[in-house]
Amino acid sequence: MSFRAKIDHAAKEKFSNLILALDLPPSEPHQLLSRSINLLEEVHPYICAVKINRHLVLPLGLSTGIKRIVNLAHDLGLPTIMDCKINDIGNTNRVIAEFYYNVGFDSVIANPFVGWNEGLQPVFELAKRKRRGVILLVYMSHKGALEGYGQEIMNPKTGELTSQYLVFAEKALSWNADGAVVGATFPGKIEEVYAVLKEHVPIYSPGVGAQGGNIEAAIMAGTRYLIVGRAITLAEEPARTAKLLRDIIQRCADK
Ligand code: XMP
Repeated sequence: MSFRAKIDHAAKEKFSNLILALDLPPSEPHQLLSRSINLLEEVHPYICAVKINRHLVLPLGLSTGIKRIVNLAHDLGLPTIMDCKINDIGNTNRVIAEFYYNVGFDSVIANPFVGWNEGLQPVFELAKRKRRGVILLVYMSHKGALEGYGQEIMNPKTGELTSQYLVFAEKALSWNADGAVVGATFPGKIEEVYAVLKEHVPIYSPGVGAQGGNIEAAIMAGTRYLIVGRAITLAEEPARTAKLLRDIIQRCADK
């Protein structure tokens, strides 16, 4: 099954479009591992995928701790996304993606700033061979995103002035990316990106909770999947919080 089919299937099975960003504050590796496992076992009924970041990869290592978490997620019916923001030359990008795919990740996140030729082409080719996903950054959720993703540029195809993120949205479409990340903190940008992607490439939005993004505004603008970390991982009752967020997302999506 392709990554897209897997996450779509999980979303339908769990009645959830909520992705858990499994980010925990730094502590001893054995504590991080057991906390991650407990958290996943608590919240899995309310989420459709797990996104992992350097918060866990650096202390736990790929072949030991991370592999256990990825396997557990799969046993719970959840696809896994590695938020590695691949951003180097093609050969290095392919090696990075290969390590993550080999440990079992269903998708990676990559940065379109590096371009296609000798940039992300090798990652997309590898993903196709392995039936895994590549999700592209289009507009990040933090304020400084304006300086790069938001800069005004000349559209290389038309010669007209446009915004960097709109060109990235076009690339997500033409490269057949499996998703496009646009921060929930910028619903106006989600709407513009959705106008380019429509239902061809689903929008993934981090930025709800700790970063102040609004679920309803993001969904109404075109977001398909909400990515939430600290609002769940630092909550006193993570399962209750995840269920609450899941219910809000589904209510908005049904409107
Ligand atoms: P919080 O705690 O803010 O965590 O809910 C969000 C998670 O998502 C990551 N993040 C992003 N990842 N594009 C990405 O690919 C983005 O624009 C973006 N904004 C936040 C963040 O590192 C954390 O893991």
